[in-house]
Formats: sequence, C-alpha cells, structure tokens
Amino acid sequence: MCGIVGILGTKPVANDLVDALRRLEYRGYDSAGVATLEHGHLERRRAQGKLRNLEQRLAKEPLQGHTGIGHTRWATHGRPTENNAHPHMSKGVSIVHNGIIENFAELRRTLSAKGHRFETDTDSEVIAHLIADAMHDGHDPVEATKMALGQLKGAFALAILFAGHDDLMIAARQGSPLAIGYGTGEMYLGSDAIALAPFTSDITYLEEGDWAVLTRAGATIYDAAGKKVKRARVRSSAGSMLIDKGNHKHYMAKEIFEQPEVISRTLANYIDFVESRVVLPDLGINPAHISQISISACGTAYYAGLVGRYWIERYARIPVEIDIASEFRYREPPLQKGGLSLFISQSGETADTLATLRYCKSQGQRIASIVNVKTSTIARESDVVLPTLAGPEIGVASTKAFTCQLSVMACLAIGLARARGAISPAEEQELVQALAEIPRHISHLLTNEAQYEALAHDLSKAKDVLYLGRGVSYPLALEGALKLKEISYIHAEGYAAGELKHGPIALIDENVPVIVVAPNDHLFEKTVSNMQEVAARGGKIILVSDTAADAAGCELMAHIAMPKGHAFTNPLTYAVPVQLLAYHTATFMGTDVDQPRNLAKSVTVE
Ligand code: F6R
Repeated sequence: MCGIVGILGTKPVANDLVDALRRLEYRGYDSAGVATLEHGHLERRRAQGKLRNLEQRLAKEPLQGHTGIGHTRWATHGRPTENNAHPHMSKGVSIVHNGIIENFAELRRTLSAKGHRFETDTDSEVIAHLIADAMHDGHDPVEATKMALGQLKGAFALAILFAGHDDLMIAARQGSPLAIGYGTGEMYLGSDAIALAPFTSDITYLEEGDWAVLTRAGATIYDAAGKKVKRARVRSSAGSMLIDKGNHKHYMAKEIFEQPEVISRTLANYIDFVESRVVLPDLGINPAHISQISISACGTAYYAGLVGRYWIERYARIPVEIDIASEFRYREPPLQKGGLSLFISQSGETADTLATLRYCKSQGQRIASIVNVKTSTIARESDVVLPTLAGPEIGVASTKAFTCQLSVMACLAIGLARARGAISPAEEQELVQALAEIPRHISHLLTNEAQYEALAHDLSKAKDVLYLGRGVSYPLALEGALKLKEISYIHAEGYAAGELKHGPIALIDENVPVIVVAPNDHLFEKTVSNMQEVAARGGKIILVSDTAADAAGCELMAHIAMPKGHAFTNPLTYAVPVQLLAYHTATFMGTDVDQPRNLAKSVTVE
C-alpha cells in the first residue's frame, strides 16, 4: 500500500506533489511527506496523519525545489508517527517506498555494524542506507542503486533522489505498481496514472523487476537483469481519471448512487440486448471441457466470488472451488491441468490475489480475471480479462465495484451455461431480461434513503450486529457485516442462517439487531424458522425482503421492502440495502466514511 510520486519539474514542485498525493490517499493516509532538491540540497517536510497536516506544514515552511518525491503512508513497520513518515534519508540519498522489505532486519544489522545510524522503526529506511553505503564506497547513484536493489527481498515501488543531482530520479518496481509519466521538459512518477492525471496522460507502466533512470529529457528503463528495455507508452484515458464527489457528501454515497449507471455499462459490455444473449470474450478454453473453476479473491471481491459460485454451479453445472486468496496461496491446492482459474479484484493489485494468480499460472491453469483497473498487474498477467466498468472507486469501502463484479459473474455463469448446453435459449433470454431490470430496481431503491437514516439511529447504539442469509443471500450477509464494521466500527458478523443454532444464537438478546437478508425464494421458509428462533430470544429483526412484513411470522424491528425480482438477480439488488444501512449508520456516527481508520483501498502487501 502507500502511494508514491515523483516530479522532475521546471518550477517548484511541492504543491504538485501534494496534489498528486491527494489522488493516492486511497492507498493509505497514516502520514505523508515530501522531499525536494534545491540547488543540490535535499530538504524534506513530513507530517503525521492526513495530507492536510502536511499541507499546513508546507504552508509554514515551504519548499522551493524543482525536483521532488512524495509519499502517503499506510503503516506496516513502525507506528504512524512523523518520525516514521517517508521520505527517508541517509547521507544525501532520499527515498519513498511502497511495499515491504522482508530482509530489512538483517540488512539493518549489517549496516549498523558498518556505522550507519537508523532514525526510524521502518523497513524502508534501510534502502536509503544501502544506496548511501554503496555511494560512500565510490559508486555513482545509478550503480549504487543497482547494487542496493540486488540486495532487497520483498515488494517495492521506489522513487529515489540524490543530493547534488537535480536532474536525476531513479525508480524501481518489484511487486508494487509504478507508472512513469512524460511531460514537456518534465517527467513524473506515480503509483498509478490517476496520481499523474493533472500533469500528463502519456504513461509507461514499469513491469515486474524493472527499474528506471529519469531525467528531464526522458527515461531509460532496465529489466531485472540490468538490460536496457523498451516499454510501451500508452495514453491513459481522461475518463478513468475523473474523480470528484459531485453533489454527495462522500465518495461512498456517490459510488452507491452510480450503481444503476455503472451496472448498465458493465452489463452492456457482455450482453447483446437485442438478441437477449450473453457475449463473452474468448476464454481460450472450450467451456464444454471445463471440469472445475477455482476462484480466489479478498474481502468484498471474495464475497462476489461466493455469489458467483452459486450461479456457476447452479446454471452452468461446473464445480467451483473458492477460497480467500491469502489462504489459497499457502494451501497450494492441486489443480487439474488445463483448468480455469478466476481472480476478482477491484484494484487489480491486491498482493494475495496476485500471488494466487501466479501460483495457478505455474500449475498450468488458464487465467481469467474480473478487474476494475484495466491497467493493473492482475489484468496484465491474466490470459483473459473480464473488466468491470465501474469507473474509479475512491471510497475505501467497496460498493459499485462489488455490484459490477456480480454483474460480470452473472454474465459469465449464463455464458458458460449456454455454451455447455446447461440452459436453453429461452432460459438464457429469461435470465438476461432479469439482469436488464437491475438498474431500474436499484434506481428505485435509491429513492428511499429516509428509511435507512431512521434505522441508523438504532443501529448506531448497538455493540454487535448479526447478519443472516441463506443460499445466495449468505454472501450478502457477509458483505453487509463487513460494510458495517469497516465504516462504523460496530462489531458485526455475517452467518449462514442455518448455522445460527450451531453457536451464534448464544449472542442473541434484545440489544443485538439481526439483519436478515431473505428474498422470497425457495429457501425463504427455512429462514422464517431462523427468524422465529431469534424473535423467541428477544432479538430485534430487520428483514430485507420482497415478501410482506407479516410473512416473517414474528415481530420485526423494521421491514425493508424490496422490489419483486428474479431469484437469479437478487444478490445485485439486495447488495444496495446492506450498503445503505452501513453508510447511514456510519454518517450518523460521524466516522470518516471514505477513509476509515486502519484501512487502505489497495492492499498491495501481504
Ligand atoms: C471492503 C473492501 C475490501 C476489498 C479487498 C479486495 O469494502 O473494499 O475488502 O474488497 O481489499 O480488494 P480488491 O478488490 O482491490 O482486490
């Protein structure tokens, strides 16, 4: 995680560095800092907490350098204090780092023995010392950096400045993304193209193991073996960089309200609405020959995968193996040669998901990914990409990316089912039409915010909240609980309704709201029994359902009335009330909805 940026400019760059960091705050916001080179001298300003603290610091103590690097931190090693904030310095070398240096303790011991004094508790500082050490031995900055890179184990994206070298910046990428931007007489570096959007759309993405020497005249790129390489220059689309809150108080609200539009856009990418048919990209594997699909992802994306498993198994009749990526990668399950592995990720940079992808690739699997950031590492390392067209998601809690992931999953299930002859053309038409109604249903749901605002008062008083769901609604219960805990900090658990009596029922009393996600499908009656078990123990039930309230057969605290939809598409519509319950509870409680504590949008470390 963490965001890094660098500019070789033609005027003072501190403000532009901060502007770029603002676009990277989604990667972390525990502390921030910038360093610039002014007539060969390195100067830095750092501040604990959000970027505005750094801005205030810079207003009081401005920096004038035309060359600079900046960092916004998500703490891994060392507390989020000003002292641990980047850039780190050692004897005329200044670095910003995103990632984790796994062998930092060993390197630090060696360097300490040589007389280096460390100022921070971070793993990153060792990089500045390593380079400074090689320069002290007489190597020039490029050679010294190359030597240091060879000693680092772990993941990193780096930007490095050198005292006395105003027209030089070195960049390196291993396991963490990094983009070079080209301007007129100026050069840029950033963790992603969005950071560089105000300056340039002319971008080169460094590849795994690449490092680059930047001057105002351009960039020379080397691969991991030190060979000079050419990497493509691409035009980053302006549309993908548009980020503002519109009329909304938070990005999360804006993103919830964008769902009808982005779901339509995503569905239109996979559906021929005239023919009512799904049109999938070539998976490079004959669907009739797929004997198993393995899915892995993290967090909300994993829950989208769980829904996908129900759909693919039910409609395409293909067994699906699914696991959380951080478990999958170390479980190293045996995979049948020629099988299909599917990865789901909004950012396309999640470290565990990427590691799992690489494991599956090594096992001869065909790699498909559902990603939102098309230029991401996961997208680039996949054989086939099934994009979600959600646009940039800035709120740390995922909302529109989730429903777009579900949209793609639904199309994939239909496409595979038809190709395998598991559904008839008439059934395909019925499912496609059900999907086509989703944007309208969600637009309708978004007109009733008052109900959620009222419920937020009650939920905000709870210490624990339970979410229950059965079948395809079970992942929605998990997603509801995750949304509530991450933005309101209220403890919440999602359970399969059938598991209630195997343990969690012990938690039920009149202080524990129980949110039951229960569309009127073939499992509804089963969930009614669970609601009665809750009601009998004084639990307060909020039922989210398209049935009438009295169908629950017990007293309800509230009934969120859902539109009647097709059983197939219910997860898409039922995602919205669980998002709104969490959002309104958090805003009522006054938490930092878009940047909840301890979290970051893109989890590029293990
Ligand atoms: C929760 C949330 C996270 C992400 C997870 C995976 O609201 O956003 O759980 O879903 O970190 O991230 P991506 O999808 O970028 O791989």
